[in-house]
Amino acid sequence: MIRSVITGTGSALPAKCVTNADLAARVDTSDEWIVERTGIRQRYIADDSETTSTLATAAARNALEAAGVDAQEIGLIVLATATPDHTFPATATQVQAALGCGGGVAFDVQAVCSGFLYALATADSLLRTGMATKALVIGSETFSRILDWDDRTTCVLFGDGAGAVVLEAQDVAADGPGILASRLHADGQHKDMLYVDGGPSTTGTVGKLRMKGREVFRHAVVNLASVLKEVLEESGTSAADIDWVVPHQANARILDATARKLDLPAEKVVVTVDRHANTSAASVPLALDTAMRDGRIKPGDLVMFEAMGGGFTWGASLARM
Ligand code: ACO
Repeated sequence: MIRSVITGTGSALPAKCVTNADLAARVDTSDEWIVERTGIRQRYIADDSETTSTLATAAARNALEAAGVDAQEIGLIVLATATPDHTFPATATQVQAALGCGGGVAFDVQAVCSGFLYALATADSLLRTGMATKALVIGSETFSRILDWDDRTTCVLFGDGAGAVVLEAQDVAADGPGILASRLHADGQHKDMLYVDGGPSTTGTVGKLRMKGREVFRHAVVNLASVLKEVLEESGTSAADIDWVVPHQANARILDATARKLDLPAEKVVVTVDRHANTSAASVPLALDTAMRDGRIKPGDLVMFEAMGGGFTWGASLARM
């Protein structure tokens, strides 16, 4: 059977690391509050020379190298971002040019923190139709550009970065590698709980992120537990079969609460929120690359990806590595 197989991962972070103490010098907050409520200790923030496309290109190069794939072989780039370099063209096309892919399909997906899950499911579908045989799926964000740096309730939560995977259509055995099941959801009724108060068609400005954190938290735990159950059912697996969960890194308490709801031991959850904070669409591939490179995730492992974000949008995918 033809499946989309993850054959390489990569990531990239801005050079500048900003600690909680650095933020406490700027807004009325403390390392203690941030660590206790979120688990975040530091985040990386892009300087003027680092953009969503430059971070995405660096992550993509690492993923191509890990997969042993040449940029010329890539026929599809799906890039998830809510912070594109420009309103248009798609940041994916900038990455395509920077990598020297020389053709194929390239477009952006906008599902905020769930963006990578949306991009992965989209690329998986296109590969299985034969649209391309090798794809790059990228999550890249510079949320620092849309933060209100005077709002302590949001500015401490986010960071910048990028993660990428090479996805290849391969003819595999039933128990072989590849994406086994994906489920995506959206519910547009909750826009006001998490949104950016600008945009080209409304204010004509980029705008700043606004969030009702407590309500987002409540919806996140319920929606994530529910979509994880759907993917387990769809793939005929149980929570006990899962080797690793690579979740969207929003907040350590959301990760704990979701794992508890599914009876998943905390040791199976990859956590990078302490180092990267919430990097929106980049957080799942960044965490995946971290756990691949430090040797935790190995070939043959069953890995669950999950995310929830603005919209609300949410989703999960199960893959054998
Ligand atoms: N430093 C110090 N105090 C703060 C800070 C801060 N950075 N931010 C808020 N406070 C204060 C508030 O003003 C409030 O003070 P008050 O009681 O005097 O009014 C107090 O802390 C408690 O505020 P709450 O918002 O009720 O705190 P809560 O325990 O809910 O934690 C948090 C806030 C961390 C945002 C939490 O609600 C959360 O994690 N929500 C999920 C949001 C999220 O992760 N969003 C990311 C995008 S969506 C996604 O990725 C899933």
